[in-house]
Amino acid sequence: MKHRKVRIDFSNALPHWNPAEPEFSQRQNAASTVLPHLEPYLNKVMKLAKDQLADTDAVLKDEIALFIKQEANHYKQHQAFNRMLYDNGYEKLKVYEAGLQQDYDQFLKQRSLKFNLAYSEGFESSGIVVAEFFFKHASRWLDNADDSVKKLWLWHLAEEFEHRTVCYDVYQRLYGSYFYRIYGLLYAMVHLFSYGGRVGRYLITQDRESGCIVNDWRSRWRLLRFQVFQSAYLGFKMLRVLSPFYDPANYAMPKAAEQVLAEADLATSTEN
Ligand SMILES: [Fe+2]
Ligand SMILES: [Fe+2]
Repeated sequence: MKHRKVRIDFSNALPHWNPAEPEFSQRQNAASTVLPHLEPYLNKVMKLAKDQLADTDAVLKDEIALFIKQEANHYKQHQAFNRMLYDNGYEKLKVYEAGLQQDYDQFLKQRSLKFNLAYSEGFESSGIVVAEFFFKHASRWLDNADDSVKKLWLWHLAEEFEHRTVCYDVYQRLYGSYFYRIYGLLYAMVHLFSYGGRVGRYLITQDRESGCIVNDWRSRWRLLRFQVFQSAYLGFKMLRVLSPFYDPANYAMPKAAEQVLAEADLATSTEN
C-alpha cells in the first residue's frame, strides 16, 4: 500500500463522459458527489479509531496513515471532477450534497465510534465489490469513455482494493461484533444507495427535460440494462460480506487493478 500523488486533468471531461451511455455516466456522477463528503468523514473516523488502538498496534496505525492519505487524494480528485458538473448547471447538486454532509456531521456528533466504524467498513466492503465490477465486467460502459474520467474511477477503485483490509482490521480489533458489523453494512447501503438513487434520478431527469438525453425507449433501456446488471452483480457479491467468516484479505486484487496501480506508480515516479 502506498500514497500516490495522482493528479488528473478534467478540462476536456463532460457530464456524459461516455456519450454512448449517458445514463450510466450520470449514475456514476451521482456517486462522485458522495465522495467529497464520505471520504473526509471516513478519515475522521479512522483518526478517532487510531487514538483507541494500543501502542503495540504500530503496523495497523501505519496502515491507517496511508489509508487516510489515499482517501484524501481520492476525494480531492472527485472534487475537481465535480466542479465540471456544477459548471454544467446541475444547481440542485449542492442541496443534495449539503443534506449528506449534515448526516455525516450528525453521525460524528451523536453516534458512537462503533457505529461510525461499522458504517465505514460497510462502505469499504462495497468498494471492493464495485472495483471487481469495474475491472472485470464493465467494458460495455467504459470502452468509449473519456480517458480522464475512466482513469479517475479505475485508479480510485484499484486503491480501494489495495486498502481493503484497513477499516475491517480496525473494526475487528476495537469491537469485532459480527451482528453490529452487519448493522453498519446495511445502514450504509440503504443510506448511500438512496442518496445515489435520488441524485442519479435528478441528473437524468434534468437531461431528459433539457433534451441532452432523448427521452425515448433507448434511454430507458440503457438505464434499465445498467441498473439490473449492476444491482444483480453487487447484490450477489455482497452476500459474501454477510458471512461471519468474511475477511477482505481473502480476496485477490484483479490483474487489471494491479496494472492500473503500476501505471500510477510509474507516473508518480517520473513526476518526482
Ligand atoms: Fe476512496
Ligand atoms: Fe476506501
